Amino acid sequence: MKSFIVLAATILAVSALSLHEQWADFKVKHGKSYKNIAEETARFEIFQQTLKKIEEHNAKYEAGLSSFWMGVTKFADMTSEEFQAMMSKQIISMPKIEGERHVPFEVEPEEIDWREKGAVLEVKDQGQCGSCWAFSTTGSLEGQNAIINGKNITLSEQQLVDCSGSYGNGGCNGGAMVYGLEYVRDHGIESEDSYPYEAKQGDCKADPNKSVLKIKSFKLVDVSTEALKNAVGTVGPISVGLSSSGLQNYAGGIIDQNCQGQVDHAVLAVGYGESPLPYWIIKNSWGKGWGENGFFRLARANNLCTISNTMAVYPILE
Ligand SMILES: *[C@@H]1O[C@H](CO)[C@@H](O)[C@H](O)[C@H]1NC(C)=O
Ligand SMILES: *[C@@H]1O[C@H](CO)[C@@H](O)[C@H](O)[C@H]1NC(C)=O
Repeated sequence: MKSFIVLAATILAVSALSLHEQWADFKVKHGKSYKNIAEETARFEIFQQTLKKIEEHNAKYEAGLSSFWMGVTKFADMTSEEFQAMMSKQIISMPKIEGERHVPFEVEPEEIDWREKGAVLEVKDQGQCGSCWAFSTTGSLEGQNAIINGKNITLSEQQLVDCSGSYGNGGCNGGAMVYGLEYVRDHGIESEDSYPYEAKQGDCKADPNKSVLKIKSFKLVDVSTEALKNAVGTVGPISVGLSSSGLQNYAGGIIDQNCQGQVDHAVLAVGYGESPLPYWIIKNSWGKGWGENGFFRLARANNLCTISNTMAVYPILE
């Protein structure tokens, strides 16, 4: 009996210690600092609730009841309400833009992964700036530049953040990919190297002489899973918006449950597959350390997380 109590106490001490260790690791890894003890205590409390949520979900995953697993992400110290409130500032609204539409002109392949074809450049990190729309825009531009021109040039989100305000974009407070593409149609876009990312809005420093890519126009993709699949399969990486609530604690696998809330995050659809269930492959802008090396997969059935909506668009190069 006595040895049992000692053992139980030891296990408790070990798990309590590892909880604090996990918290310390989390803070270091994501550069977290809190303004006072009260704030840190509250955040630690939320972190522990997140760990519980992760554990519960992963038990479902282990039991074969879910096709994705969760882990500690940089958002582990936020409640789901806080996460959604932060994300809801990212996309201004569904843009009401008339334009050319994607018309399927050939049958798409069964499966495609544009990463294998050199059309998906490095994963970036938007940081503390609601500029997902700019990363989604550069993603489809980089893809077409790779596929059509054979060029591997990472493009400037900062230029879009600083310079496309008059097109309807809000810098770090959200925007829309069509507005970004309208700006690029009129002004071209510089490379990441010539106009590097700063994660905050500043004065426009664009130099038209440094533009490395010009576009003629863009095409909007109809609001349907079939249209989006055809566009991804036959054109290349497509800029899309979706509801992001399912991404907060995502660590890998295929998200197979619907997201709460409206479309609030812009990303890049870079492919799709069939096994063990039909899914999209999506590039995010939360760094390489998030999800599956910066990517995630989302089940394709039932327009999950509203991925097919009026935001899906791709550029037509000049
Ligand atoms: C693009 O170039 C960079 C730097 O040389 C390289 O690391 C990366 O793998 C290239 N990407 C593609 C898709 O070819
Ligand atoms: C762009 O190049 C032209 C012609 O060389 C030059 O006159 C102009 O000053 C340059 N613009 C900027 C912003 O440097």
